[in-house]
Amino acid sequence: MYGIVNKAIEDLVRENFGEEKWEAIKLRSGVDIDFFISSEPYDDDVTYKLAQAVSDEMGISVGDVLHVFGEWWVLRTSKEKYGGLMAAGGSNLREFLINLPVFHNRVMLIYPKLTPPEFKVSNIEAQSIQVHYHSKRVGLQDFVKGILSGLAKSYQTEANIELIQTRDTGDSHEIFKVSW
Ligand code: HEM
Repeated sequence: MYGIVNKAIEDLVRENFGEEKWEAIKLRSGVDIDFFISSEPYDDDVTYKLAQAVSDEMGISVGDVLHVFGEWWVLRTSKEKYGGLMAAGGSNLREFLINLPVFHNRVMLIYPKLTPPEFKVSNIEAQSIQVHYHSKRVGLQDFVKGILSGLAKSYQTEANIELIQTRDTGDSHEIFKVSW
């Protein structure tokens, strides 16, 4: 994944827990990279190792790490670095989610070597929608849930996010039902 993802994990840890904690996490991860360049692609393994090391160091599950990271990704990284792109996604949560399937097409103009996730939407109602998540990567469903939760917060919308189908039980992809 592009360095911006690893850099965002670093920023999240540094800002909330300080420099020393970040150094301890990096050491524990075995990732021997001095600093991440946002526009450079890194092996996915780097990101997984960092998430695992945060989990071990903080004594919380990897799922919880990814959820917190998903919220951070929306509320801090995307908002601060790509505010215009996020704002163009929609003027409320429902609109943003309806537009989600084409969102990474624009991201690919910035990061051409992106291996993006694929989103589809179904069951579009006035107060709920189903978000289908397809990815070549495994283990990131809590990251998606965190992003969805961060999006709801960014639109000041009280939302319930329910995982109604997952690859964990043999289905082809994840489906989240988002209700507000
Ligand atoms: C301006 C905002 C955003 C930017 C710049 C961005 C950029 C990226 C980048 C660089 C990656 C790493 C993939 C790679 O390097 O190959 C990624 C992955 C991902 N993005 Fe986005 N993204 C944004 C918003 C979103 C939103 C709103 C969602 C909504 C759910 C989302 C969902 C994901 C997921 C789930 C992944 C993990 C990859 C996977 O599952 O295969 N992103 N994105």
